[in-house]
Amino acid sequence: ESYDMGGHDTYMHKEISEQADAVDRVLRGRIDDRFATVHLGGLNLDAREARAVRRVKILGCGSAYHAGQIGAQMIEELARIPADAEPASEFRYRNPVVDPDTLYIAVSQSGETYDTLAAVQELKRKGARVLGVVNVVGSAIARETDGGVYVHAGPEVCVVSTKCFTNTAVAFALLALHLGRIRDLSVADGRRIIDGLRRLPGQIEEILRGEERIAKLAAAYADAKSMMFVGRVRGFPVAREASLKLKEVSYIHAEAYPASELKHGPLALIEPAVPTVAIVPGDDLLEKNRATLEEIKARSGRILAVAHVEQEKADDTIVVPANEPELDPVLLGIPLQLLAYHTALALGRDIDKPRNLAKSVTVE
Ligand code: G6P
Repeated sequence: ESYDMGGHDTYMHKEISEQADAVDRVLRGRIDDRFATVHLGGLNLDAREARAVRRVKILGCGSAYHAGQIGAQMIEELARIPADAEPASEFRYRNPVVDPDTLYIAVSQSGETYDTLAAVQELKRKGARVLGVVNVVGSAIARETDGGVYVHAGPEVCVVSTKCFTNTAVAFALLALHLGRIRDLSVADGRRIIDGLRRLPGQIEEILRGEERIAKLAAAYADAKSMMFVGRVRGFPVAREASLKLKEVSYIHAEAYPASELKHGPLALIEPAVPTVAIVPGDDLLEKNRATLEEIKARSGRILAVAHVEQEKADDTIVVPANEPELDPVLLGIPLQLLAYHTALALGRDIDKPRNLAKSVTVE
C-alpha cells in the first residue's frame, strides 16, 4: 500500500477500505494448521517462559489502548492468563509495582508515542520483560522492547486510526492463540479460532459493501447533540473505540459506558436528542443486552444497534456477520468507523486532520 489516495477523497476512507487486505497481511505466513497454532517469529518468548507468565499488562494510548483492551480479553479467554489494559500515561505516572511474573505489552501504531515509550523505558529499567505490538517497523518502541508482533497494517496517514486498530486486534488474537496453545487451549479450539481468523477478510469485505446504508444512517443521526455507546464485556472496548472515533472526526460529544452501568447514572441523559449505539454480540450476554435496549426504549431513546441479527427494540440495526465469539469484536467495530466517517462528512469536518489532534504525540 502506498501514500497515494488511490481515488478516495480522504485517507480515512482509503484506510477503512483497505482492511480486508490489511488483515490478510497480519495473518500471512503465521498460521500453523498442523499444530493448530500460529508462529510469531519476533516474539522472543519460548514455551517455558510463556508458561511462566502469571499476568499480562497491556499499555497504550488512544485507539492503541482500546485495541489493547480487546487484546486483554482475548488473552484472558484463550490463554486463561489474567490480563488487563491501562493507558500508558496513567501507568507511568502512578509508580506501578513491576512484577517479574507479569508480561508487559506496549501497543502503538507509530511506535513513537512518548507516553508509551516512557512506560516501556521505565519497565525496562526495573527489569521487566516488555513486548511490543507495533505497526511501524524499526520504530522506537519496536527497538526498545524485547520482542513482539508486528501489526503489518501498512502506512496509516489519517490522524485517527482505523485499519491499524483492526489489525492490532487481530495481532492480539494471534498472540492469544499462541499463548493459549502453549497452555490449555485444545487443538479443536485452536482450529476453531484459525478457521475464524481465515474468515475475517471476506467478512470485512461484506461489511464494507454495506457502506451506502451506513452513510444514510450517519446522515439520520448527525443531528445528535451527544451519543451514548454501550456494550458488555466483548462489546465494551468496541463501544469505547467507536465513541472515540466519532468524537475525533465529527466533534459530536460521545460517551462509552458498559451497558450494565447505564442504570447507575447515564440513563439520566437518555432522550431523543441523545441516541445510543448499542454493541450486541451474539454471545451469552445477548439477553442482557436486549434488556438494555428495552430500558433505553422505555426512556424514548433512539437506538442504533450493531448486531448479528436485526434487533427488534432498536430503531435501526447494522447487521454484521458473525465469526467466533472471541473474534467478533474485530468485526463489530468496522461499521462504526464508517459511521464516524460519514457523520463527519455530513457535518463538513476536516476528516484526515481533526482540529487539535496529531497522528502521534511524541512529546510529553
Ligand atoms: C494520537 C492519535 C491516536 C492514536 C494515539 C496513539 O493521540 O491521535 O489516533 O491512537 O496517538 O498512537 P500510537 O501511534 O501510539 O498508536
